[in-house]
Amino acid sequence: MSSRLIRPAKNILGSMRLPGDKSISHRYAMLAALAEGKTRLSNFSTGADCASTLSCVAALGAQVTRSEDHTIEISGCTLSAPAGPLDCGNSGSTMRMLAGILTAQPFSSELIGDDSLSHRPMARIVEPLSQMGARITASEGGRPPLHIQPAKGMLNAIDYAPPTPSAQVKTGILFAGLHALGETSVEEPFRTRDHGELALRAFGAEVTRSRGRVSIRGGQRLHAIEALIPGDISTAAFFLCAAAIFHDSNLVFENLMLNPTRSALLDVLYQLGARVSVIDIEERHGELAGTVKVEHHSLRGATIRGPQAAQLIDELPVLAAIAPFTEQGIEIRDAGELRVKESDRIASVAANLRKMGAQVTEHEDGLSVPGGQTLHGAELDSAGDHRIAMAFAVAALRAQGDTLIHGADTAGISFPGFWSALDAVTER
Ligand code: S3P
Repeated sequence: MSSRLIRPAKNILGSMRLPGDKSISHRYAMLAALAEGKTRLSNFSTGADCASTLSCVAALGAQVTRSEDHTIEISGCTLSAPAGPLDCGNSGSTMRMLAGILTAQPFSSELIGDDSLSHRPMARIVEPLSQMGARITASEGGRPPLHIQPAKGMLNAIDYAPPTPSAQVKTGILFAGLHALGETSVEEPFRTRDHGELALRAFGAEVTRSRGRVSIRGGQRLHAIEALIPGDISTAAFFLCAAAIFHDSNLVFENLMLNPTRSALLDVLYQLGARVSVIDIEERHGELAGTVKVEHHSLRGATIRGPQAAQLIDELPVLAAIAPFTEQGIEIRDAGELRVKESDRIASVAANLRKMGAQVTEHEDGLSVPGGQTLHGAELDSAGDHRIAMAFAVAALRAQGDTLIHGADTAGISFPGFWSALDAVTER
């Protein structure tokens, strides 16, 4: 695992166009494999997670071609039995959403993952799919690998309320619902990211939403699409937060994803006091994208809890990492899910902040990080988690002294170009 040395910065300036959003890239690739015709996806995510999804759909018989400019073409097909286990790598999204598709297939399959993924909870998807009649089993403790056998007859529709809000689970159920007899519904008291619903509609399926209930009728056919994928806002989060902590910063993002179920970070930065402007906005396949500018202004403090914590789940590590530079600090609650991500993100954030000399209180479901603290350069560990490596690269820019991050190449899980992109906007 590689290490990266981060020297303190003077400012963050520039403009960026980021690779396509990871959540959308996964979903478009999976649906393209099922759709009639050839789908063309420009600005596909460059991360290793979406490469895992592409390898899986290719192993299931879809023809996948990749160009140097990150355009992917996928010819949909009747899926066929893979020659061996389907390797989801580090990607929980690949495993949970693909499981929904595989349970409806007339062949057996096995979904495996790397060491981190092999410790993540899968009962949350096994349970509803089993209720639909899927023959799916997880290993001990509800962990991967997942073994899937053909269902006896068609899947049946269910009406399901996931005990933990999860867009991956919602999407996995809707993907299975596409092949079920009747109308499958997922109820969510908190609205999670809606890319699954939007992607299904983009590929031609009818999906309805009423009072927190998303429904899909089985037996609908999908058709290929051409799409330009908006830049990943969860990757932009690191750069947005970096810009927010430097005086005189000015950073512009073009083609940034602005889906309201994903852009809560812009609201939080605004609420903290940063200047955030959305300069233009357009809609493509139901997804919003636009140009966003962020400039520094002194940062107050914030409490993030309830539905907001669920919507910001991937952005919480970097918000906690910049909390010492705010005036009043940041408190994060109702975010126990952070403990079952690629690492225990509550523990990894707290450990790294402490190594940098900060005071932090760890809660079972979050963190409290007081403001007005100085961070010192330190030797840190990414815990093999891309978002931890990138969050602390940002904190290190305003630390006193140099910081060494071990396991820094894990950033490639979502954005292999992270380190050079950060260098390009950093003034030293
Ligand atoms: C994702 C949903 C979230 C998020 C993950 C991607 C998705 O997970 O943390 O990085 O693409 O649906 P949950 O579904 O577990 O909330």
